[in-house]
This record gives sequence, structure tokens and C-alpha cells, in this order.
Amino acid sequence: MKDAVMRKTTTIKKIVKGKTFADVGGLWGTKGEMVTQALSAGATRAAMIDKLDKSSEWWERFDKHCSDKGFQKYEKIIHDISAPKTAKKIGRFDVVHCSGVMYHLHDIIGFISNLLSISNEYLLVTSEVLPSTIENSKGRIHLDDNGAICVPYLSKESLNVLREYFRIENRNAMGITSNAVFFNRSTLTPNFGPWWWLFTAEFMSRLVSGFPVEIMDEGFSKNKKIYQILVRRL
Ligand SMILES: C[S@@+](CC[C@H](N)C(=O)[O-])C[C@H]1O[C@@H](n2cnc3c(N)ncnc32)[C@H](O)[C@@H]1O
Repeated sequence: MKDAVMRKTTTIKKIVKGKTFADVGGLWGTKGEMVTQALSAGATRAAMIDKLDKSSEWWERFDKHCSDKGFQKYEKIIHDISAPKTAKKIGRFDVVHCSGVMYHLHDIIGFISNLLSISNEYLLVTSEVLPSTIENSKGRIHLDDNGAICVPYLSKESLNVLREYFRIENRNAMGITSNAVFFNRSTLTPNFGPWWWLFTAEFMSRLVSGFPVEIMDEGFSKNKKIYQILVRRL
């Protein structure tokens, strides 16, 4: 793990020229999308991959956003990145970026594995992380670097400490600051809206480096709330 600040957009711009690119889970909000950044830096092909189905207003808003920036040629792929046989279904890209998705998924190991399976060369994965110790008026919890905490199974006491932490930071975290339904009642499949996992930057770095990859760079976002890791497949 590195304590330094890493600039995500600069990193993508440095590696993507002449390569194919995919942004996984970049749709919501459109502000964090990297498709137009990759194309402007010389990517030969760029795709937005997201789980939201075609009725979601965000696909239309994404088209408008791209068009406003002068881009017409890009791909839109509706896909759940945690689905089995992902590479077979959606193909591979030289550079894969995914931010703000990891903590929403119940299977974070399968998630990294699937991201790597669709990457020919580079994967840049970023996620919200928490400090090792959180202490406030509601108590204290410790997040061990050796593991992650599973949100649906938090004790009432821990939940209170975390709720207070997010309240002070003025942030929303479904499942912590508001109630969430973790499993779809009829299909029993896990929902992707709530936070499933809480982990430290050290844990995230260990999880990613457990795969056959070379870490090219890693570091925090400017506000230190997000950790970013760039790896090359071995
Ligand atoms: C919190 S937003 C992050 C948006 C953007 N990447 C950013 O960092 O600002 C999460 C996005 O991931 C998508 N998403 C969540 N789970 C997903 C999954 N299993 N497969 C693909 N996309 C997913 C959501 O639809 C949403 O667009």
C-alpha cells in the first residue's frame, strides 16, 4: 500500500493511447465516466459496461454527455461484472477501469477475477476505503488489514459507530446510513445497491496483489477516501 496521491485520469491518459478501453460501472452520474477521457487520449475503441438496464435514464444521459463532449463513436454494454463467463460474453479490452463498484458487490474476489478476465493488459480499480480505526461519540471499531467487514452482518454497536462516521463526513452509504434490502426476495440474488463490504486500503491492495499481476502504481485520491490500484496482468 502507498500513502501517496495517485491521479486516476492522468494514469489512464498515459497508458491508453492506441489501445482498447472499457469503463466498468461508470454510468451512474456520468461525471466519473472515463470513456470520453480514454477516447480523447487516443484509445482506439471505448466501451461503457454497466449493469443498469436499458430503461435507465443514465444511458440516455450518458449519450448526451458524450455528444456534448463531441464523441459519437463508443460502445454501450449492459452487463453484470460479477456474472459467470464474463469474458466470453463481453470480450476483452487492453485497459479496463472500474471505480466505485467494488464495495457494492457481495463477491469481491470474483469481481477482481472477472475484471482481470476482460483485461488484456491493464486494470485500474478504485474503491472507497475506510481508516483502520474509527472512533466517535458512539464508540470505536477497528478494521483489520487482514480482512473486510461484511455490512449486512454488522452488530448494532458497530453500525452505530459507522453511521456516526458517515454522518460526520456528510456521506450516504446504503445499508449503513439508510436501511437496505441485501437480497432480492424472489430470486435470492444479492442486490448491488447497498454497501456489502468495508475495508482498508491495505486490505484492498493485498486482495488485488494476490492475483497474478504486477502492481504498476497505487495510491489515494486527493481526499484520501478512495484507493486506486493500477496492475498489469502477468
Ligand atoms: C457508485 S456508481 C460509480 C460511478 C462511477 N464509476 C464513479 O466512480 O463515479 C456505481 C456504478 O456501478 C454500476 N454497477 C453496480 N454493480 C455493477 C455490476 N455488478 N456490474 C456492472 N456495473 C455495476 C452501477 O449501475 C453504477 O453505474
